[in-house]
Amino acid sequence: MPAKRWLDPEVKIDPIRDQTVAVIGYGIQGRAQASNMKDSGIDVIIGLRKDGKTWRLAQQDGHKVMGLSEAAAGADIVHILIPDMEQADTYVKYIAPCMTAGKALSFSHGAAIHWKWIVAPKIVDVIMVAPKGPGQLVRELYQQGFGTPSLVAVYQDHSKMAWDRVLAMAKGIGSTRPGVLQTSFEEEVETDWFGEQVDLCGGAHSLVTNGQFAEEWVSIYKKEGKNSFARYMKDLENHEVEKVGKEMRKMMWPNSPEN
Ligand SMILES: NC(=O)c1ccc[n+]([C@@H]2O[C@H](COP(=O)([O-])OP(=O)(O)OC[C@H]3O[C@@H](n4cnc5c(N)ncnc54)[C@H](OP(=O)(O)O)[C@@H]3O)[C@@H](O)[C@H]2O)c1
Repeated sequence: MPAKRWLDPEVKIDPIRDQTVAVIGYGIQGRAQASNMKDSGIDVIIGLRKDGKTWRLAQQDGHKVMGLSEAAAGADIVHILIPDMEQADTYVKYIAPCMTAGKALSFSHGAAIHWKWIVAPKIVDVIMVAPKGPGQLVRELYQQGFGTPSLVAVYQDHSKMAWDRVLAMAKGIGSTRPGVLQTSFEEEVETDWFGEQVDLCGGAHSLVTNGQFAEEWVSIYKKEGKNSFARYMKDLENHEVEKVGKEMRKMMWPNSPEN
């Protein structure tokens, strides 16, 4: 079944217009997402370690910067954008005591929730907006009037407005301009980790061939000539991964000659 998709005219920022979003972390994603949401008219505050390197940068960019607990306490939506492996300790120490009824805990990657490094109380929403691109691109494309597509998910909907909240954030980040796609925390984690382990970090080594592919290719070409390549490309085109890939590329690069 195709994933549900939302585009800009279908989504409003209004549901969070009177809410405060605390962006915890001002790194690759934090800087881009916080700046985009602020420029979209959302009330954004930044939560950081007082002795950290990024405190001054966030201030220079014109944000309201405060300590981790102070930001979590002062926000309706606490959007955690520090490295995944640091999230659980920071959550327990600074954020958990501030997660009172009706608030939302938000992420850009599902690992901490899916693997239960963080177990959120039942009285809060748990949501995810995960841009499918690095932070610099998220910011640059937003400033050019476009955006980076995002995956969105709701893990827990205590307020019954979790979807409104996460979609409004996605719009603030600029992601509804190319489009956002529904996923689950489980699906986002498994596809992301699969991609990183099998392709980006590790798989490439295994893909280097030992000469076997060349032998196979020469032998097929001898039998079928250049038709062998056309057949190979057709098989590829009809593969489910390639069909979905084509749709995703259309969202990211709508003006590409491929469309
Ligand atoms: N990188 C990407 O392009 C990308 C894409 C999609 C989703 N995501 C997701 O976005 C989230 C953030 O990733 P990122 O790459 O943006 O992280 P990042 O750049 O490494 O985050 C750096 C920020 O986190 C703060 N920080 C680091 N350790 C901390 C700790 N123990 N306590 C408090 N603050 C700490 C740093 O503050 P200091 O100045 O104090 O060090 C800095 O502000 C992750 O869930 C990731 O999976 C990332």
